[in-house]
Amino acid sequence: MSSETTFKIEDQYMAPFFVKQKISIEKGDGVFVWDEEGTRYIDFTSGWGVTCIGHAQPVITEALLSQSKKILQNPNSGLTYSPARAALLSILMKVMPSHLTHVFFSNSGAEANDAAIKLARKVTSRLDVISTHQSFHGRTISTASATGQASHREKFNPLMPNYRFVTYGDLDDLKQALDENVAAFIIEPIQGEGGVHIPSDKYLKEAERLCSQNGTLLIADEVQTGFCRTGPMFVTGAMGIKVDFLTMAKGIAGGFPFGGFAMSQKVASMLEIGDHGGTYCGNPLGCAVAHAVIKYLVDNDVSANVEHMGRLFMETMGQWKETYPAAIKEIRGKGLLLLIEFADSDMATRVSDECLARRLFVRQTQGNGIRLFPALNIQEDELREGLGIMQAAIEKIVG
Ligand SMILES: Cc1ncc(COP(=O)(O)O)c(C=O)c1O
Repeated sequence: MSSETTFKIEDQYMAPFFVKQKISIEKGDGVFVWDEEGTRYIDFTSGWGVTCIGHAQPVITEALLSQSKKILQNPNSGLTYSPARAALLSILMKVMPSHLTHVFFSNSGAEANDAAIKLARKVTSRLDVISTHQSFHGRTISTASATGQASHREKFNPLMPNYRFVTYGDLDDLKQALDENVAAFIIEPIQGEGGVHIPSDKYLKEAERLCSQNGTLLIADEVQTGFCRTGPMFVTGAMGIKVDFLTMAKGIAGGFPFGGFAMSQKVASMLEIGDHGGTYCGNPLGCAVAHAVIKYLVDNDVSANVEHMGRLFMETMGQWKETYPAAIKEIRGKGLLLLIEFADSDMATRVSDECLARRLFVRQTQGNGIRLFPALNIQEDELREGLGIMQAAIEKIVG
């Protein structure tokens, strides 16, 4: 097929939910991808924080191949045992905060959050959910209800009742919102889709204390931040925060649709058979891939690479900010979850389009931001090549 044919078919038959970029990607390798005509691009989005160890990663191919030759889906699904699932559970338990003792799997981040919210209601016998303005937790009806961005909500109002919002990072606001009706407080330890916002060190720790005092379960949505995206395996784990649920997806299986949620012993002890389930939850193929990804992250000390590369990104972006103070308002991020905030959204759109014209994928976020979240095993020459393209794009648009 040619790109033109692919465009035509997708444009005709795909439901029109996305503003499409007219590029048809056929294959990838590490941080690089190629379109159907063989043009090479650099991917600084890793498919929205998913392909954390690069495209066409051999350890993933190997896991997919070898597991698919054995079995894809168990008879009676989760009612039967699976060595692939057991292997994944074993490695997950080694990398997760140690107070989280039980895990269940899902197919996506939204599904993991949805389940955590549902189960928090059961465990607490309360109904209310507190979330934060600008948050993003998914697109199902309950996770859209927990998402603090008007664009994801307003067309579907009224969404689910009993959801309330507080300002991200504001402890007084949280304190006031917590009462005896609040089942759960769901929070991204660093907001991703909301524009890469990092709360103060004190915020999450104090939120943990306030929730615990109020009998409210704390759900850490680490769908975007988990699996070394910001350096450590999990942000809340590195900070020693004892959340009740930790939700995960995206990087967990490096591009294979997979997710999960972990819970404390106390929460697990209050759940029972029938409280949750699903046809694919812990599907052996997904488990095998997730195991391979986590093993790669650990064996290759990817966390150290993320911290090193993150510093290089910040240094370069910091120089751009000094060169173009009127155009670049702020740079922020942690590890390889980074954002450049431009003076206005038109400028961000033009820089982002210029990057694409020069064959670099970036992600415009919250209008005037451009988010960079490349593969976590990116190497310095790849980083420099991508940043060189971005610098040229910025120079052209704002210089
Ligand atoms: C923090 C966070 N939670 C949940 C989700 C939803 O995940 P999914 O798209 O896999 O349903 C996302 C997706 O961007 C996310 O960033």
